[in-house]
Amino acid sequence: MGKFRLRSYAAVIAVLYMCSAIIDVAFAEIQPRLEIFPKQEVQRKPVGKSLILTCKPMVPDPNLVSDLQWKDNLNNTILPKPNKVYYPLYDSRGVRLPQVTGRNQPPMYTETLPGESLALMISALSVEMEGKYYCTASYANTELLETSVIIKTYVAITWTNAPESQYPILGEDYIVKCEVKADPNPTIDWLRNGDPVRSGDKYVVQTHGLLIRNVQESDDGTYTCRAAVIETGELLERTIRVEVYIRPVITYLPNTLEAVEGKSFATNCTATGKPVPEISWIKDAAQQNVATADRFQVNALTGLLNINSVSQDDYGTYTCIAKNDAGVVDQKTKLNVLVRPQVYELYNVTGVSQKEVAITCRSKGRPAPAITFRRWGSEEEYAPGTQVDDERIILEQHFDEERGESTGTLRIARAMRTDDGLYQCIARNKGDTAYKTGHITIEFPPDFTHMKELPPVFSWEERKANLSCLAMGIPNATIEWRWNGRPIKDAYDKNLVIVGTGPRSDLIVHPVARHYYSVYKCIATNIHGTAEQDIQLKEARIPGFVEAATPRQITATTITFDIRGPPTEIGLPIIAYNVQFKEALNPDWSTAFNRSWSPDSPYIVEGLKPQTMYNFRFAARNLVGLGNWGVNLQQSTPRRSAPEEPKPLHSPVQNDKEEPVIVSPYSDHFELRWSVPADNGEPIDFYQVKYCPGVKIAGEWTEFENQCMTVDVAETTTFEMSRLSGNTYYHIDLRAHNAIGFSSPASIIMKTTRGVDVIQMAKRQVLSSAAIVGIAVGGVLLLLFIIDLLCCMTVRMGVMATMCRRAKRSPSEIDDEARLGSGQLVKEPPPSPLPLPPPVKLGGSPMTSPLDEKQPLQTPTGSIKQNSTVEFDGKFVHSRSGEIIGKNSAV
Ligand SMILES: *[C@@H]1O[C@H](CO)[C@@H](O)[C@H](O)[C@H]1NC(C)=O
Ligand SMILES: *[C@@H]1O[C@H](CO)[C@@H](O)[C@H](O)[C@H]1NC(C)=O
Ligand SMILES: *[C@@H]1O[C@H](CO)[C@@H](O)[C@H](O)[C@H]1NC(C)=O
Ligand SMILES: *[C@@H]1O[C@H](CO)[C@@H](O)[C@H](O)[C@H]1NC(C)=O
Repeated sequence: MGKFRLRSYAAVIAVLYMCSAIIDVAFAEIQPRLEIFPKQEVQRKPVGKSLILTCKPMVPDPNLVSDLQWKDNLNNTILPKPNKVYYPLYDSRGVRLPQVTGRNQPPMYTETLPGESLALMISALSVEMEGKYYCTASYANTELLETSVIIKTYVAITWTNAPESQYPILGEDYIVKCEVKADPNPTIDWLRNGDPVRSGDKYVVQTHGLLIRNVQESDDGTYTCRAAVIETGELLERTIRVEVYIRPVITYLPNTLEAVEGKSFATNCTATGKPVPEISWIKDAAQQNVATADRFQVNALTGLLNINSVSQDDYGTYTCIAKNDAGVVDQKTKLNVLVRPQVYELYNVTGVSQKEVAITCRSKGRPAPAITFRRWGSEEEYAPGTQVDDERIILEQHFDEERGESTGTLRIARAMRTDDGLYQCIARNKGDTAYKTGHITIEFPPDFTHMKELPPVFSWEERKANLSCLAMGIPNATIEWRWNGRPIKDAYDKNLVIVGTGPRSDLIVHPVARHYYSVYKCIATNIHGTAEQDIQLKEARIPGFVEAATPRQITATTITFDIRGPPTEIGLPIIAYNVQFKEALNPDWSTAFNRSWSPDSPYIVEGLKPQTMYNFRFAARNLVGLGNWGVNLQQSTPRRSAPEEPKPLHSPVQNDKEEPVIVSPYSDHFELRWSVPADNGEPIDFYQVKYCPGVKIAGEWTEFENQCMTVDVAETTTFEMSRLSGNTYYHIDLRAHNAIGFSSPASIIMKTTRGVDVIQMAKRQVLSSAAIVGIAVGGVLLLLFIIDLLCCMTVRMGVMATMCRRAKRSPSEIDDEARLGSGQLVKEPPPSPLPLPPPVKLGGSPMTSPLDEKQPLQTPTGSIKQNSTVEFDGKFVHSRSGEIIGKNSAV
């Protein structure tokens, strides 16, 4: 038997024993018997309780009592509790273990109490322990004493399943659990918030609890489950707090999400419910809660998902899970990761003409990029499918959205040589566009079309000829030569040398004999085919006779010819025409003059004498040499005369039906230019330009005669007309002059542009630059004057001081000084420190110069000079006496 201790019982028993002792003393000499305390014959006790029954002998002499014992309901003697013996226990290392006590207590045992009583101790009453228990003893070895007691058990009201807080779910039926155990059976009724609950549609009282149909939030409250046992009079209440829970509902989660690779990303999954649901995110592919991944953060309360730096692998479906005590709900969404496209494969390809060639471009990105192509240098991209303008070309596109890859293939059926070239692959998605360029090489058989139009090769006088043969073709063609049907090999003929084997080969022919002037065949071969080209070597000759040469224009010193050359061969053109000429009186051609013209230039013979008869003969020249002289022509020059008309070098603007007009780009000046005409035997000494403003009224030209200007120009063929009026027509007559007279006038109409502002600007600029010079000079003079004045007044030095001193001298002395020029400043101080230069007569200044010319020019010495004519040489205006007016200023 195990150890057992009941200290509290022992105390009670001790008290009982004292009482019995007192009673013993009081009632001595009584009948020996046994008595059981408490005294009731039937002991009714709830299951699980502990119990002590004390058997006490009531005898005259307690010392004679022996064999006192308890027998249980099956008539077995109940043993006393074994003595407590403590054996020290040690563990394997020799450490003493703490004492273990009170574990294996027997369900019932006896214990001897002082005063010869024997207690039956039941630590926990069970239903099986019900029955009759005997206490027996012998007295004085003769008398057998016996008494009994009946132990009856009952089960008290116990809540076997009646939680004090219960959470039904909104919208569902729920049983508020209240499972009660009691023996005899209890009756149950319910109160809600203090009021009795009646069974009906809403509430049904059931064995295990109260059924609430279609739970609403208003069903929250305090429910009381009341259990009563009529037999025992036991009544027990249990208060149950009912709080209605709501299953979670995901209220916000987009169907698809879009993130950009490398960027951060956030989205929400919002859910309602009671209690507030806890939200988690699962990545479906990995079946992994994303909160465990580094770059992800999830706020379980708000459902906010953050991704720090989105990677391509984050692409996929995700499940948002909202969970509370009422339930779990989930919803899926797809995260698309926008990945910038990247072309990772584009190989150069080689195709063959007339066969199909295809170039493939592979690209990654999300969404899977669309791939197109375009030819390098072209803006236009190929459209998916067959091209409208070229049915040979088909663009195929394949997308693998799941893997974020796409492929584009450009297929060219019946490839042509023109398809050869660079092609750009363009991979495009929402994020960006990527490019890569590849090459399509189209191989083709050798081709000589580029050589079809080539002329024969010419040679003469046994010159070596270079027969050059270049074959187009990919891959490069190899070339062999044939002559008269036989291949030309090394050392076949020392006069035939082959340089190069392809794609170009030169056959150098040394035509030492007639038969080398012949046709040679160039044969080009590559893996795709063969082509042939004949090249002819021809003997070249000098040109034939010039067919005709006729004078077109004759002046006293020049003749211009029209020449019709001899027939030529392709590849052997005329490179020059030669003319020889001599005076007809001279019979010797060996002393004739020579002149050579390149073809198509003006064929002019110059330097002829007037009124002289000449012989001319002509010959043509080609690479071989000069042809024979032909077209013997006799022509005399006319007598000397005035020059030919000069030709103005301006391109007029031709208006409808109107005279051509030359437009000056300026409003106030115009530069007239012309070419030197034939002088007809006397040198040109000057040109005369006459120009008059005028108007055109009803097609009738009217000049303002009084505003006409006439200027002679020598040694140059340009003339700058200045001080013109804007937007005005000028009629210009240009004549050349020689000793014999004036040429006929070359007439043009010139119009100045509008542009008053331009004139004023120009004027202001002239004035201001002159003024700046004036101010500078005047300023220096003034400064000198002031310094001098100060010196004079303070230290009595300087020019002024000298002047002041001299002022006291005689006038004759002063005159002497004046002649030396030192006292001029004081004697005649300049009226203004800013002496403005007079108008500069640039370019003849026709509007003002006549006025100026009529006014006497005041020189510093006071002399008067009259100029009658003015000449212009393009830089300065000269007076007849040779003095330069433009430089004749008062400074
Ligand atoms: C493709 O061809 C282009 C142009 O001919 C060349 O520059 C490039 O290196 C080639 N690429 C490859 C991979 O051969
Ligand atoms: C032959 O002529 C070609 C030009 O047509 C030239 O490039 C080549 O060098 C020449 N060959 C020789 C050997 O002179
Ligand atoms: C083909 O010929 C060209 C010109 O002679 C040369 O530049 C090129 O390298 C050749 N190609 C090959 C593949 O031999
Ligand atoms: C013109 O050419 C011929 C032959 O070329 C030559 O004899 C003659 O001296 C030349 N005449 C002059 C004037 O140079």
